[in-house]
Formats: sequence, structure tokens, C-alpha cells
Amino acid sequence: MGTSRMFRFFVILGSAFMILLIIIYWDDVSAPHQYLHTPVSPGPKVAHPPPKPRPHTSRTPSFLSDIDAFVNQFLEPGTGEPTDTAPADTSNQSEKAEERYIPRREWKIHLSPVAAELRERQEQRRRLLQEVCANESVAFPGKNRSFDEIPNKELDHLIVDDRHGIIYCYVPKVACSNWKRIMIVLSESLLTDGVPQRDPLAIPRELVHNSSMHFTFNKFWKRYAKLARHLMKVKLKKYTKFLFVRDPFVRLISAYRNKFEMPNEDFYRRFGQVMLRRYGNQPTPPASVDQAFSLGIHPSFSHFIQYLLDPQTETAMPFNEHWRQVYRLCHPCQIQYDFVGHLETAEEDAEHLLRLLRVDDVVEFPTSSRNLTSSSWESDWFSMVPAETRRELYKLYEPDFRLFGYDRPDSLLNE
Ligand SMILES: *[C@@H]1O[C@H](CO)[C@@H](O)[C@H](O)[C@H]1NC(C)=O
Ligand SMILES: *[C@@H]1O[C@H](CO)[C@@H](O)[C@H](O)[C@H]1NC(C)=O
Ligand SMILES: *[C@@H]1O[C@H](CO)[C@@H](O)[C@H](O)[C@H]1NC(C)=O
Ligand SMILES: *[C@@H]1O[C@H](CO)[C@@H](O)[C@H](O)[C@H]1NC(C)=O
Ligand SMILES: *[C@@H]1O[C@H](CO)[C@@H](O)[C@H](O)[C@H]1NC(C)=O
Repeated sequence: MGTSRMFRFFVILGSAFMILLIIIYWDDVSAPHQYLHTPVSPGPKVAHPPPKPRPHTSRTPSFLSDIDAFVNQFLEPGTGEPTDTAPADTSNQSEKAEERYIPRREWKIHLSPVAAELRERQEQRRRLLQEVCANESVAFPGKNRSFDEIPNKELDHLIVDDRHGIIYCYVPKVACSNWKRIMIVLSESLLTDGVPQRDPLAIPRELVHNSSMHFTFNKFWKRYAKLARHLMKVKLKKYTKFLFVRDPFVRLISAYRNKFEMPNEDFYRRFGQVMLRRYGNQPTPPASVDQAFSLGIHPSFSHFIQYLLDPQTETAMPFNEHWRQVYRLCHPCQIQYDFVGHLETAEEDAEHLLRLLRVDDVVEFPTSSRNLTSSSWESDWFSMVPAETRRELYKLYEPDFRLFGYDRPDSLLNE
């Protein structure tokens, strides 16, 4: 009796201690995959001594990954055991290894500092976020919550890269494919012929948006919810967090053009048919997008706006991410973003950001050759939408306008 109770006591004490250790040392094990992908040699025990334990003082993930890669060279099967090989051979081998493993020069030496104008711009954008979040006359759902009160499923837009200590909140229709590509390159999660893919544009489109390519916050273990929250908060505190935004109305136009003006079967079935039925006088809309387009039927921009304003829409399910407000995707009042990029200044911002993240040597931001939806087209697009409806739409997206410093489009609203 006594022994079994003692045993149970020690088991519980031991588990508590383990959990404590995990919490304390999370910093150093924050990238579990780095340890997991070290291949275990299948053959007999390797003759050379096991790698030294990682020194505690090294916090830089890139340093750890360098050690990993170095150790991997010798653990890979087929290369033979380093101790058996002649010196001349070793040099050949290390030559080969060097070819395989290109050391990561994580930061470029810059002779000129980041332009004061760019730093000032970020300073202003961050300050604005703080001001609007603190301003009690600006209210929107979820604004007063604490981070702990945000449900896990609402954290699914935060992509984490433990290797470099980066968190990216992706906003669809705001250069998100390109930034997702960069996150895939940085996290080295895509291997082509065993080598991490380093060219963002070489990543196939269907992979870029496949959520299995990205480690997002909602994928943290579900069972230890409290501990997971704690770890998320540690990462949110230590990592560099960024997002990209654009003018909210222009984002809506871009979403409409991309999903409804061009044939898209998925969006037609999920949303287009609903719009046609409710606002387009089509009790039985065509069954497929091809049929609809061949008959010249598709939801108009004005149907789309009606759909957004319809209270039925949100009760059926939350807004689709392509038109969901940024404040609901990225929680800017709970997460203190270090960098806020604007699509309108995307190239300058991207260069500044990659430099800030110290990865400008590893990746370049792919320049887009496509024509962006421009804000000068706004008045054309909204010409068919009644002024009253525009004002309601503005109310729906006002928090995004305020938080990210986009002016109220007075010319559209005061008619
Ligand atoms: C070592 O590499 C050189 C060329 O770099 C090659 O000519 C030579 O045959 C190699 N030696 C061995 C033992 O593989
Ligand atoms: C808060 O927002 C209101 C408008 O909604 C504005 O008039 C006021 O100046 C803001 N307060 C601060 C402190 O920025
Ligand atoms: C948020 O809190 C303030 C007071 O702290 C309150 O006036 C406001 O109504 C709250 N907003 C919401 C949406 O709960
Ligand atoms: C995403 O990738 C996983 C594994 O790589 C694959 O099984 C799955 O089918 C992909 N999903 C889509 C929608 O392509
Ligand atoms: C881009 O816009 C310009 C005019 O602004 C137009 O001439 C050109 O055809 C457009 N290109 C594409 C690919 O739409």
C-alpha cells in the first residue's frame, strides 16, 4: 500500500518536474523539427564520438541548424566512416559535402543603414495600432479580449518559423502567396531532391496554399491547451511578427475579381450560387460555373457587397478568409506586430522587412509582374453600388481602415 502511494507520488512529482523543464527550456527546444530531422545512422555504431551537447548560451537557431547540418554530413549513410578514410579522401569528401551543404550566411553586411524614412514609417504604423487599440471610441467585436480568450481556430493565420524566429500573419489578397513562398523557403520545409528549395518562385502554386506546408499556431497540441498557450506567448514575445495589409475596399475588389469575375468552381458553388439565388433573381442558378459563364450569368460586384452586408451571411458561417476583416484574422490588438507592411509600398517594405529579419541573403521578395487592383479604379467598381450601401460597407470594414491608417474614402461615401 505504502509503496504504491509513494510510487504514485513520485510519478506525479516527476511529471510536474518534466513539464517545468519543458517550459523553462522551451527556448532551446523551440524547433523540435531540427532535432527530428537528424537522420539516425542505420548501420553499426559510428566510431566517432557523439556530438557534444549544445551549449546553452547559443540561442540563435541558425547556429543550431549549422551544427545540425554539420553533424548530418557524417551521419548520412553511404559516405563511409570518417575515421577509416585517408586524409586525401577526407578532403575530397568534405569538398563534396560542401557542395551539398551550403553554409547559411544569414546576414548581409550593409554599408548603409536602413533609410530613416522607412524606419519612421514603421514607427508610425506601430504607434497608430497602439493608439487605435487603446482608443475606447473605436469598438469592434473581440477588441477587448485577452490573447487567452482567442479560440485556437482563430489563430490559424499565424505561420511560425522557429528556425529564424518569425511569425507571419497572412492576409489573403495581400501578396500572401509570395510571403507564404518565402516562409516555405525559410523554414526549409520543402525538399526538392533532398535539398531545401531556395527559390520562392519554384514552389508549385498548389503547395503554397496547402496548409500542411505551414506550421500555424492552431496546430499546437490540443491536449495541453494551457501549456500550448504559454508557449505561444513565449514565441509571440520573442519572435519578429509581421503582416501585410492593403486598402480594405481595394482588397474587396481584388477578392471579387479573383473569385467571381473569373470562373472558379469552388467559390461559385460555395458563394456564387447563394448570391445569385438571394439577390440575382435566379431561384435555380446554373449547376456549374462553366454553365453559368456560358450563359453570361455571374454574381455582380453589387451582389457580392449585398452578400457581405446580409446578416444571414455571418450567421451561416464566419466570413471567408478572402474577405474577412484583417482585425479578425490577425488580432492586432492582442499581438504586437513588429512590422506592418502595406501592399501600396510592397517593394520598399519587403526589402526593409527581409533586412530586419536578417534573411535578405537567403531570399528575395519575388517581384510581381501582374497588374495590381489599383485604388484609382474604386469609383468605377462602386459606381453601381448605392451610396447608402457603401456607407454600411465602410462601417463593416472601418476598424481595418482605422487600425492600418487608410483614409476614409470620402468621395465614395459622401454622395
Ligand atoms: C578527388 O577529387 C578530384 C577532383 O576534385 C578527383 O580528380 C579525384 O579523383 C578525387 N579523388 C578521389 C579519391 O575520389
Ligand atoms: C479616438 O477616436 C476618435 C474617433 O473615433 C477620435 O476623434 C479621437 O481623437 C481618438 N482619440 C485618440 C486619443 O486618438
Ligand atoms: C471594451 O471595454 C470598454 C471599457 O473598457 C467598454 O467601454 C467597451 O464597451 C468594451 N467594448 C466591447 C466591444 O466589449
Ligand atoms: C496537401 O499536402 C498533403 C501532403 O503533402 C497532401 O496529402 C494533401 O492532399 C494536400 N492537399 C491538397 C488540398 O492539395
Ligand atoms: C496592366 O495595365 C496596363 C494599363 O495600366 C495595361 O495596358 C496592361 O494591358 C495591363 N496588363 C495586364 C496583364 O492586365
